[in-house]
Amino acid sequence: MLPYGRQSIDDSDVAAVVAALRSDWLTTGPAVATFEADLQRVAGAPCAAVANGTAALHSAYAAAGVGPGREVVTSPMTFVATASTAVLLGATVVFADVEEDTGNLDPAAAGALCSTRTRAVTAVDYAGHPAEYDELRKVADTAGATLIADAAHAIGSRYRGRPVGTLADLTTFSFFPTKNLTTAEGGAVAATDATLLERVRAFRTGGLVRDRARLRHPDEGGWHQEVHELGLNYRLPDVLCALGSAQLRRLDAFKARRSALSARYDELLAGVPGLRLPAQRAWVDPMRHLYPVRILDGRRREVYDRMRAAGIGVQVNYLPVYWQPVFADLGYRRGMCPVAEAFYAEQLSLPLFADLSEADQDRVVGVLRAILEG
Ligand SMILES: Cc1ncc(COP(=O)(O)O)c(C=O)c1O
Repeated sequence: MLPYGRQSIDDSDVAAVVAALRSDWLTTGPAVATFEADLQRVAGAPCAAVANGTAALHSAYAAAGVGPGREVVTSPMTFVATASTAVLLGATVVFADVEEDTGNLDPAAAGALCSTRTRAVTAVDYAGHPAEYDELRKVADTAGATLIADAAHAIGSRYRGRPVGTLADLTTFSFFPTKNLTTAEGGAVAATDATLLERVRAFRTGGLVRDRARLRHPDEGGWHQEVHELGLNYRLPDVLCALGSAQLRRLDAFKARRSALSARYDELLAGVPGLRLPAQRAWVDPMRHLYPVRILDGRRREVYDRMRAAGIGVQVNYLPVYWQPVFADLGYRRGMCPVAEAFYAEQLSLPLFADLSEADQDRVVGVLRAILEG
């Protein structure tokens, strides 16, 4: 089965991992700080590496003070972790509808649902296309909330010339193998505010505080460290950070290849009946994580089944989060975000990854055209 996404690993990646394995540090060593510095050069803001994208969201919410009695306003057109990590902290998630064309959080819809309870507004850069951050900034500031970007899809993207990582107070990344770069499992949080980053770092390290100036009992002894707020072990080991640094050196090439393949899809699929191609705002420079088309006339299920039967691993991103049974059990009802539901009903992600060959892409296009034109 041709996958919809997969990693690209070359000899430089393998060499970096082998060198880390032979070093003194498998985890908590120097490769972590190196990876975080490498990430900062792309994200434009200081970063903390964490265990995965879900851990990144959990840590970002904890740092932002998301908890009982507080609300997070976010998009339902995302992976469930964008919402579930806030619920795990005891907060209530409020789903706001998305823009009809990009599938990104609609700033007006988000603004209408903000209240004095709102602690965070979380946008999702769906498919790698940055959300409307200038508008969302106004929405979050008006509510007195932290602006969070779930940029699991969007490391390397830019919005009005600014890199994803600088657009929100906290930005989360995922380095799962289907993503724009991989550390197998992995993630990071970028923060434009030093205090928020400090809170992320504490949360990912069991809540431990080592800075002598902040200790309540600084004279306890040289071994002493304290926990002021609860945390988890969400560290990313040196072995995986070394892979991340090697992958970051290839990021520009990944972006160019993803852009070229997307442009090729645009060209080869233009004018195909019953098909709508992805939208792109003039002011964004996306790192294309997904190539999300819309299958019209109620044929998405049929096209999915037939492409899978032909060995093409198309994917659907995403079931509106509040349709998940766990959210239904919490009282969320279908119909809440009609634009997102209509988007879901038509959405299909075609294979897109750096090592996708043009021959394989031609096969995807050929099968899709045969179904829709046949
Ligand atoms: C939008 C979005 N948010 C969060 C995540 C969670 O990332 P991870 O799988 O690394 O935990 C993903 C990845 O699946 C994602 O696509």
